[in-house]
Amino acid sequence: MATHVEGLTDEVYLPPPHVAEEAHCSSMQQYDKLYQQSIEEPEAFWSRIAEQFYWQEQPAGPFCDFNFDASRGRIFIEWMKGAKTNMCYNCLDRHVENGRGDQVAFYWEGNEPADTARLTYSQLLTRVQRFGGVLHRLGVRSGDRVAIYMPMIPELLVAMLACARIGAVHSIVFAGYSADALADRILDARCRIALTADGVWRGNKLIRLKEITDRALELCTERGHRVERVVVVRHLPRLHHQTPSTAVGDQNSAQTTPQYDPQAGWDADRDVWWEDAVSDAPERCDVQWVDAEHPLFMLYTSGSTGKPKGVLHTTAGYMLYVATTFKYTFDYHPDDVYWCTADIGWITGHSYVTYGPMLNGATSVMFEGTPFYPTGDRMWQIIDKYAVTKFYTAPTAIRALMRLGDDLVLRHSRQSLKVLGSVGEPINPEAWLWYHRVVGGGRCAVVDTFWQTETGGHVLTPLPGATPTKPGSACRPFFGVQPALLDENGVEIAGEGEGYLVFRRPWPGIMRTVYGNHQRFETTYFKKFNGFYCTGDGARRDADGYLWVTGRIDDMLNVSGHLISTAQIESALIEHPAVAETAVVAAPHSVKGEGVYCFVTTKDGRPWTEQLQKELVLKVRERIAPFAAPDYLQYAPGLPKTRSGKIMRRVLRKIAQNDRDLGDVSTMADSSVIDLLFQHRCQHLK
Ligand code: WT7
Repeated sequence: MATHVEGLTDEVYLPPPHVAEEAHCSSMQQYDKLYQQSIEEPEAFWSRIAEQFYWQEQPAGPFCDFNFDASRGRIFIEWMKGAKTNMCYNCLDRHVENGRGDQVAFYWEGNEPADTARLTYSQLLTRVQRFGGVLHRLGVRSGDRVAIYMPMIPELLVAMLACARIGAVHSIVFAGYSADALADRILDARCRIALTADGVWRGNKLIRLKEITDRALELCTERGHRVERVVVVRHLPRLHHQTPSTAVGDQNSAQTTPQYDPQAGWDADRDVWWEDAVSDAPERCDVQWVDAEHPLFMLYTSGSTGKPKGVLHTTAGYMLYVATTFKYTFDYHPDDVYWCTADIGWITGHSYVTYGPMLNGATSVMFEGTPFYPTGDRMWQIIDKYAVTKFYTAPTAIRALMRLGDDLVLRHSRQSLKVLGSVGEPINPEAWLWYHRVVGGGRCAVVDTFWQTETGGHVLTPLPGATPTKPGSACRPFFGVQPALLDENGVEIAGEGEGYLVFRRPWPGIMRTVYGNHQRFETTYFKKFNGFYCTGDGARRDADGYLWVTGRIDDMLNVSGHLISTAQIESALIEHPAVAETAVVAAPHSVKGEGVYCFVTTKDGRPWTEQLQKELVLKVRERIAPFAAPDYLQYAPGLPKTRSGKIMRRVLRKIAQNDRDLGDVSTMADSSVIDLLFQHRCQHLK
């Protein structure tokens, strides 16, 4: 029940007493004190946290050094420069040496409920050392980039930790991306080695990862870059069910399994099975001590120009930040069983499946499948099976599960749950309240965590034992984070108001550069407002000082929590020979949050056929990924433009939503097209 609290304007949800009692931070007074210290004495604050980790050498200079003001020269951020450490050592060896080797690090749960495994910290360490040896033997050295295109299987954890162990930089590409997208990312990072698997089942769908990788590497070769070696996990034959079981009530389950031979494109000089490679690898692999600012990984995120950016994170700062956010945001305790449903291919998986939990020595669930397979209560089943205490998922999943009705949730106990997290996009109050009331049975704290690939970890979030929450608000900044709201002219908005969400100074987990293009890093994030990191999101501050992130204010779409640039989709559509011009905007979608709405003008009056629309969807699936596919395709006899020829997306967004209040259209060159566009609009938004 929402209640009134003295000093706050709105009704709020108070931290559940049993959560607050055991919390690391259990009141707003305590939060304020810690927050204040993190801002006034950042070195004291973070160096105390750093003491929990292993340092081969201490920092040589200032604990934090930075420049956020482009007018004063190069933008840079450094934390603990000169210190030497290793991420893998802190995630594994440290715990094993402290006698916690037998603790379960991950319960692995496959797509099929019968496929399960458990991995202790010491088992993981053994496997990581062996695979580190394999990487060494393949010629991987400190600083080399390794492309990883793998499903949610234990080898993915082993691969990333092995890279970290030897100082190599992993570049993980989500296994839902197409061959073209994989090739772009391998080329940009100049990866010499790629790691993949034969394939994976997602529900009833087989994803042929090796085949896609072969195609991607062919594209790389055509563009002058050869990937020398590929290590392939033989995953499919070890599964309980090599063909999907028949799901009750699932219409698609009768679909026959297509023939797939992962060895069809095998290149004996290049490809090696994972199990063969590790079979004769040495048992030990020395830790490579690296500088605090040594790159740990890169991860591509959409850019508004359409070309993805390789967001680069380094070692020490990222380590301090993900460990600390994990501990406080989920109020982690040693008896917790934690489950983050994100794929490791996204930043949420990097920070809150792998590194954050492992740095804390946590026990987690790692899930290969989808929330809907074999039935729509799979999530709640898994929560009961492992007695999950802290659960972290995305609004899009919450909304989809909400649609299936309460019964599927209520038939499971969920008594173990204490904290429910949300991430990836603004969560609408209706979904928030359902999460709280139905999933959490009204007993759990809900934490809506705002952050980005670029921020490394949570930057705005409630703390479960301290913050009175408001549904739909990410509430307050995390320790060390200083948000501000600016108007279009860069003037700061004090008190209540809405503007650009920016940050005034670096926290340890912020990205350091765009791989291979520092200038792009500076222009994208620091040139708009001197002295601030610009998120690209808008936000509102209410009378109680709570922050409400309202969504992107650049040309980006957030589909099911995945950022996609409109330009990227447009450039895929325009490749079709029948397309003259196209513009893509966001339109409301009741499950995905935002849907992809495409306006398409055909060349010299070519007909707007079903077939053409199918081909356009296919184009986007091939060039980017299925998750980026158009939700709505509308024929456009012409597009609204300014006199200088710029497409007026603002107007198109209104048309997509059937909102006739177009605002100021005085700059529009020819408004005669507007009525036609309204006539042709897709009638029913999903
Ligand atoms: C963008 C970043 C953070 C990991 C997953 C996405 C949106 C993210 C929230 C939230 C409102 C959110 C923003 C942000 N976003 N979390 N709790 N409330 N918006 O990472 O792909 O880098 O996307 O996701 O628009 O800029 P990403």
